[in-house]
Amino acid sequence: MKVTVVGAGNVGATCANVLAHKEIANEIILLDIKEGTAEGKALDMWETSPVNLYDSRIVGVTNDYEKTRNSEVIVITSGIPRKPGMSRDDLIATNASIVKQVTEKAIDASPNAKIIVVSNPLDVMTYCAFLTAKVDSKRVFGMAGILDTARYRSFLALELNVSPKDIQAVLMGGHGDTMVPLPRYTTVGGIPVTELIEKDKLDAIIERTKKGGGEIVKLLGTSAWYAPGAAAAQMVEAIVKDQKRVFPVCSWLQGEYGIKDLYLGVPVILGKNGIEKIIELDLNDDERALLAVSEKAVRGVKETLDNMAVVS
Ligand code: NAI
Ligand code: 2OP
Repeated sequence: MKVTVVGAGNVGATCANVLAHKEIANEIILLDIKEGTAEGKALDMWETSPVNLYDSRIVGVTNDYEKTRNSEVIVITSGIPRKPGMSRDDLIATNASIVKQVTEKAIDASPNAKIIVVSNPLDVMTYCAFLTAKVDSKRVFGMAGILDTARYRSFLALELNVSPKDIQAVLMGGHGDTMVPLPRYTTVGGIPVTELIEKDKLDAIIERTKKGGGEIVKLLGTSAWYAPGAAAAQMVEAIVKDQKRVFPVCSWLQGEYGIKDLYLGVPVILGKNGIEKIIELDLNDDERALLAVSEKAVRGVKETLDNMAVVS
């Protein structure tokens, strides 16, 4: 079974490496527009196979979509990342045209594929891929919630001095500073987190999570890749192994949570058909208000894309 990762930059290469190392797919195609980049990185990864003991084949190609034919999943990471001082939304014009071109070629070669978008601004680039691919929205979705929730869980693990494995949480909304972590749905080994941490400390962790992407950009001068690449690979795994995992995923909403015609992060069940079910939580008034702020922010970026008329 074949999985294609488009974009052999920081996130794409990391994702391909995790897919191979964990033998999530037996054939991984890494594609980039820059001559030799995907080939070089794929070869370097393949050369780790005798050390890391896997036999998934990784093949790098320069813009050759024939090699991606009949992929089960396509992960789109192509596009420019943030530099310090930039928001994710500053990337919209450049990345929309890249995501459009890539989606057209990728879906043409693999008409039955599920598409996971990673490029930013995430919610609206996922919408761009959906408009371009013209397939069921259950097959086109974006990766952000697993990353944002992972940041929240990892910060909580440090604060509470517990294993991150024991922290379960859900985070909703757009992939931006208006994202909505949900302490009411956060547990540590089954114990509500609010029983284990003071409110001001939890609030500080929520704020750090919302700005987690920016924290890395400030340190590195570009955006994160280890956690985003691993998060995208986890979504691929849920699909190809039909795991029915429950993850926050950027999904096309048609009335769920009272939101229509917008891609936004919500909890879903992810399996071989892509999004198998959107889970509707019974949010309280405060949580609904926060989600409304996030919805408004993403709608603003969506309107910018709609006005650019890059896709229709
Ligand atoms: P990068 O610059 O390291 O890699 C991007 C790659 O895309 C480059 O190798 C470039 O040659 C390639 N590319 C550009 N146009 C292409 C095309 N038409 N076809 C094929 N390949 C093409 O960037 P990085 O750090 O890997 O980030 C990629 C994207 O992912 C950015 O937009 C970034 O903002 C986003 N991102 C999203 C996250 C999320 O949670 N959704 C987390 C981290 C990054
Ligand atoms: C991140 O959250 C920039 O979206 C990217 O790391």
